[in-house]
This record gives sequence, C-alpha cells and structure tokens, in this order.
Amino acid sequence: MSPKDTRFAGRRALVTGSTGGLGVAIAGALAADGAFVVVSGRDRARGDAVVDVIRAAGGEAAFVVADLGAGTDSIRDVADAASEAARGTIDILVNNAATLLMPTPTADVTEQELRDAFSVNVFAPFLLTGVLGPCMAEQGLGAIVNIGSITGLRGSSGSAIYSATKAAIHSFTKSWADEYGPAGVRVNAVAPGPIGTERQAEFADHVAPVLSRLPSRRLSTPEEVAAAVTFLASDDAANIHGAILSVDGGWAAT
Ligand SMILES: NC(=O)c1ccc[n+]([C@@H]2O[C@H](COP(=O)([O-])OP(=O)(O)OC[C@H]3O[C@@H](n4cnc5c(N)ncnc54)[C@H](OP(=O)(O)O)[C@@H]3O)[C@@H](O)[C@H]2O)c1
Repeated sequence: MSPKDTRFAGRRALVTGSTGGLGVAIAGALAADGAFVVVSGRDRARGDAVVDVIRAAGGEAAFVVADLGAGTDSIRDVADAASEAARGTIDILVNNAATLLMPTPTADVTEQELRDAFSVNVFAPFLLTGVLGPCMAEQGLGAIVNIGSITGLRGSSGSAIYSATKAAIHSFTKSWADEYGPAGVRVNAVAPGPIGTERQAEFADHVAPVLSRLPSRRLSTPEEVAAAVTFLASDDAANIHGAILSVDGGWAAT
C-alpha cells in the first residue's frame, strides 16, 4: 500500500524523543501509515538516521533538533520549527521524550535531578501542548498522545520522582481532553510497562522480578506500544478522549 492511501495521509506529526527508543518505533509507525513525521531530540546524527530509515521505507520525515530541558523560548522554537518542517499545523503531537531515572532512594536524589526530571518530563510536554494544542483547536482537528507509564499508576520504591512525573502526564491527559476536546482535539495517553528498548539492559536487575509476575511474563516490544499510540492518534479512536491505555503485559491489572 502506498503511504498516501493510509489512515494518516495528509496529517503532520511531531514525535518528541524520536532519536532513540520507543520514539523511533512511534515515528516509523506514523510514517508507515502516511503521516509526515517530524523526528526530534538533541542528537542530530541519530535523528537524521531515523529520518533516513523512514524515507527509505517510502515515508516522509524531517529532523528538528530539540532540547526540551532548555525552557519556554526553546520549546516555542521547537514547535515553530516542526510546523515549518512539516509545512503546516502539526495535527498529531506525541509527547514521548522523557528522562528515565535509575531507581534511587528519595534521600539520595539531588535538587538538580528533581528539577531536571520535572523540566523534561512535565514542563516540556505542558509547554509544547500549550503552543500546539491551540493551533490544532483553531483548525478543529488534532490528536495528542502522551506517553505515561505504569509507574504513574502505582507506587514504586526508589522511583518517587519518575513516577510523579508520569502521574502528572496522566493528569494532564484528562485535563487536556476536557480543555481541547470540544474544539475537535482528542487527548489520550499510553501507559507502558517495561519495553524492550536499547536502554532496557540498564534496568534489567529491577525489571526481571517484575516480568516474572506479569500475566504476559515478558517485555512489550516498542512496536506493540507504538501500535497503541497510532490507534489513539487515528480516527479509529474518534470518540476516545482522556483514556490512559495500559500496554504493560497486564501489570496494571495485577
Ligand atoms: N523504556 C521503558 O521501559 C518505558 C516504560 C514506560 C514508559 N516509558 C516512557 O516511554 C517514553 C520513551 O522512553 P524510552 O525508553 O524510549 O527512552 P530513551 O530510550 O531514553 O529515549 C528517550 C528519547 O527522549 C529524548 N530526550 C531525552 N531527553 C531529552 C531532552 N532534554 N530534550 C529532547 N529530547 C530528549 C532522547 O533523545 P536525545 O538523546 O537525542 O535528546 C530519546 O530520543 C518515555 O516517556 C518513558 O517515560 C518507557
């Protein structure tokens, strides 16, 4: 099938944090379904490589460099650059970029680590949505998919900060669904459990005991999580607003 025949034909998507990990799979899945995808992150070489892979598969993409921890002006620049690269209003925003933190006792976390985590994981998606959400609302069409986490739904020793940032993402999802839904912009979230990304090995000691208790007994693949994102971004989810869809091998159910 040609990308032009598929469910995101004519749509423009920005996927934050798509130079590595889950974001690469999300960008690839949106592009395979016809979206023009703006790939973003701090690392230009990795971003250009993702764009090359998408184009080689027949999709359309461009890279926009983004440091989401650099404050309001820089986030507005990212939004402007993404719209310019895609030649029009961004219709699909995937707030995916985040700082992943090794489990650390609360007393050992520095104030700077606390500020950095909230800056990238909470302030950035809030500010970016505050710029792009109204543009989508003005055109009466848009979908925002936030990447939360199972850790935002449960308590987790040593992960107080990361879990709190993801709980904030889940809360934003519901508030933004109420705020933007009447204007034709749907806002939803995916809450993944452990995913088999390149970085997963760093967390293997913490994740192994969890996996042994999951109904699925395994990691999710990035592609499985990306499929939930594209579903929520698509017209197949036309009357779904404010949902937090777990893709976690059943962890939230146990
Ligand atoms: N991996 C899991 O098991 C898991 C489980 C549940 C939820 N999640 C969520 O899934 C999402 C993706 O996680 P992942 O595992 O794919 O992480 P990852 O492999 O560490 O990738 C993170 C992405 O975010 C970008 N990024 C990080 N800091 C940034 C900054 N300051 N400015 C701009 N971009 C930044 C990175 O790009 P650059 O380095 O190029 O900036 C990279 O593309 C996150 O929201 C995470 O919380 C992951």
